[in-house]
Amino acid sequence: MNPHLSLLKAYPFERLRQLFATVTPNPDFRPISLGIGEPRHATPALIKQAYCDAIMGSGLASYPSTAGELPLRQAIAHWLQRRYQLSVSAQTQILPVNGSREALFAFAQTVLSPERSGAKPVVVCPNPFYQIYEGAALLGAAEPFFVDSNPHRNFAQDWASVPDAVWARTQLLFVCSPGNPAGAVMPLEEWKLLFDLSDRFGFVIASDECYSEIYFRDEPPLGGLEAAMRLGRNDFKNLVSFTSLSKRSNVPGMRSGFCAGDADLIKQFLLFRTYHGSAMSPVVQSASIAAWNDEAHVMENRVLYREKFAQITPLLATVMDVALPDAGFYLWAAVQGSDEDFARDLYAAYNVMVLPGSYLARDVDGRNPGAGRIRMALVAQADECLEAAQRIVAFVQARKSF
Ligand SMILES: Cc1ncc(COP(=O)(O)O)c(C=O)c1O
Repeated sequence: MNPHLSLLKAYPFERLRQLFATVTPNPDFRPISLGIGEPRHATPALIKQAYCDAIMGSGLASYPSTAGELPLRQAIAHWLQRRYQLSVSAQTQILPVNGSREALFAFAQTVLSPERSGAKPVVVCPNPFYQIYEGAALLGAAEPFFVDSNPHRNFAQDWASVPDAVWARTQLLFVCSPGNPAGAVMPLEEWKLLFDLSDRFGFVIASDECYSEIYFRDEPPLGGLEAAMRLGRNDFKNLVSFTSLSKRSNVPGMRSGFCAGDADLIKQFLLFRTYHGSAMSPVVQSASIAAWNDEAHVMENRVLYREKFAQITPLLATVMDVALPDAGFYLWAAVQGSDEDFARDLYAAYNVMVLPGSYLARDVDGRNPGAGRIRMALVAQADECLEAAQRIVAFVQARKSF
């Protein structure tokens, strides 16, 4: 057996299941889950139609190529042009992927080189973070190095705190903007700092941008490739961005996204994927073209999230430290006492599930930056989210009076 498998940690939802295993939720309330970040708005009809049309046509009749059909890569290139004013080559700088999760994982296996230096390679990750980064590092025989997000600086990572000796061993850096769980968007100055570090130490940047289309400020979130272009890095050297339809278009079950950036890295990743056997089904490719070509459903989706967040954030802010994020579909709130106790007691008293923040982070110097926080995914319909928020308010108020 691959010895690195034993290093993998329990997934946050597995830990949540264990936390709730011995709790009987109050049967007076119907269950409401804000725990799992799975989009639950309706899948747009135009995507389902394109999917059905492809099945009824020749969509299942042949093996797909790993690079994907050119019309899909062109649809993605046009989207990048419209969304970020970028000129990206559909021939050499874009690859379709089966959701960003598999791609982020596989990309690490492509980039990491255990033999390159005598010392163990490092993968730098934000903290809290999406757990795939850590698993990808561990299975790539690398050591994850976590950089805490700072709640006093809009949850930005303090990249400058990473010692040069760590950067010198770093082969891959994961960034997540908009971030999960805090929803923070990385500004251009921070990108500049990371590009300078990448130039100095030679590491690759994987930019996870799957929440980029759900935002609450006027300006759409800055993308990694867009930042590179604004800083004159038109070849996207050492940078690959990962984007997904799951949240943008409410199709988490379709498994569709893409990565784009540095042509040399994309070429190597294509080689890896050819052997890995991760070509996208032609049916999914057709439905994805329809999705990338349409922006109306994305705007409608964003309005639904904006309405929910506008209603629920101020309500929760009356009892806890929480603010509207830049983007994403989570509220990342500070609570009194232990986040695990909060989640368990809330579930017992009001049948509402939230995720303890410490499950999304790792201890650094004896401190977990997710401790004392909870993550609430506002993915259900507005009335359900509102009811959950009202129950949370009642729970916190009752707790205070003890
Ligand atoms: C930060 C982050 N990245 C990537 C993903 C993977 O999304 P998908 O594989 O559906 O594109 C998720 C899913 O929840 C996520 O939260």
